[in-house]
Amino acid sequence: MPYSILGWVSTGLLALLILPYLLVQINKAFIKGKNKGLLKVIRFLRKLHKPTGIVLLLVAAYHGYLALGSIRLHTGIVLFLFALATVVLGGSFYRLKDKKLLKLHRVLSLMTIVMFFIHFFFPRLFS
Ligand code: HEM
Ligand code: HEM
Repeated sequence: MPYSILGWVSTGLLALLILPYLLVQINKAFIKGKNKGLLKVIRFLRKLHKPTGIVLLLVAAYHGYLALGSIRLHTGIVLFLFALATVVLGGSFYRLKDKKLLKLHRVLSLMTIVMFFIHFFFPRLFS
């Protein structure tokens, strides 16, 4: 089913968005900058970060349109709103360079991940 494929593509994009953060933590805790390849991968993923956020919104919206077909209270819609807020804050931080916005961007990205698990395991929680 196309909606299902697009749901998985969205999941992959979301993973790609938080991967640099996870790799930075792994690097700090275990590798301590000794693996130059890993540092290159992190730099590359950071370049992809902004366009990936925008593409996620487009793919997720189409996935949601195919899967649900209407606007009503659903875990998918709530997930989309969290992702949208995360993207808006990411873009705002990029423009304004205010540390508070980056903090909020991080907190909202965590909330987006939590909401993803709710959407995945209990899709009809709100219906
Ligand atoms: C970041 C955004 C999103 C991600 C990562 C995501 C991911 C997924 C995944 C992985 C599935 C399961 C597909 C399968 O079972 O093969 C799914 C199902 C579904 N999604 Fe999403 N989704 C997102 C946004 C949305 C939005 C915006 C909507 C609706 C407006 C939505 C509506 C649905 C519906 C109705 C299902 C079927 C659930 C059921 O079985 O009842 N999703 N989604
Ligand atoms: C749903 C989409 C997004 C998620 C889940 C997400 C997640 C994250 C996370 C977890 C961090 C922290 C990285 C760290 O502290 O090392 C981060 C950093 C950042 N994000 Fe996002 N982000 C998203 C979309 C965007 C978008 C669309 C933009 C800009 C247009 C953006 C701009 C930034 C910037 C400038 C940083 C800080 C610098 C960097 O680490 O590269 N983000 N994002």
